[in-house]
Amino acid sequence: MTDSTRPEVNPNDYIITRKRKKYKFAKFYNSPLCFEFDEWSHRPADVIEIGAGTGLFSVEQAALHPAKQFVAIDVKADRLQKGAYEATERGLTNITFLRARADQVLELFEADSLETIWITFPDPFPKKRSAGRRLTHRGYLTKYAQLLQPDNGRLCFKTDARELFLWSLEELVATGWRVNELSFDLHESGLSEVYKIMTTYEHRWTSEGIPTNFVQAMPPCQ
Ligand SMILES: C[S@@+](CC[C@H](N)C(=O)[O-])C[C@H]1O[C@@H](n2cnc3c(N)ncnc32)[C@H](O)[C@@H]1O
Repeated sequence: MTDSTRPEVNPNDYIITRKRKKYKFAKFYNSPLCFEFDEWSHRPADVIEIGAGTGLFSVEQAALHPAKQFVAIDVKADRLQKGAYEATERGLTNITFLRARADQVLELFEADSLETIWITFPDPFPKKRSAGRRLTHRGYLTKYAQLLQPDNGRLCFKTDARELFLWSLEELVATGWRVNELSFDLHESGLSEVYKIMTTYEHRWTSEGIPTNFVQAMPPCQ
């Protein structure tokens, strides 16, 4: 039954998602801190975050470490632009935002050059047949190992997804990575406060009482 007191709405007013996305894409293109894969030419970096989403975690890290260069990478420009504008507002000049896929990392940075690679709350791809898409699959780990500094490089990984975490630990160990730090509840652990800076997803899961799993590991000996 129709409620005659209800004000009429124009359905067209609600087709805003695309426009909203275009607006965010435009913001990405307009920001001097944002780059497309094609525009990137092996800029030097110390710390990268892959699958960074909004990149706000990298922004916080960049603010804490002004002498280091940070790059937040994601396939979604509409998400990355959020971090870019936050960085601009805070006057940060040591962070950039790059729209690229994880499998392209070897084309983005010099071998043996990175100090830290962060993988934060990646999509878990729970189906077995999609395991190759997990950002901690050995195919990706091999690429990360090539990019990290041989003596000093670190991979840091955190996730709410316990099964993905356990599977990832097996991938790391099976491929010779050396685990230095490990916690199944990062925020209750005595590990560095820097690791505990929360990503956008981490805020959400932590507020629902879900612990963060964390591992820090060094690449296999060469
Ligand atoms: C669950 S979200 C987490 C975002 C962010 N790390 C956080 O913790 O708030 C996963 C992100 O990974 C990105 N992503 C998924 N597969 C990717 C790939 N192959 N290369 C780059 N980014 C990817 C998605 O676009 C998405 O923004």
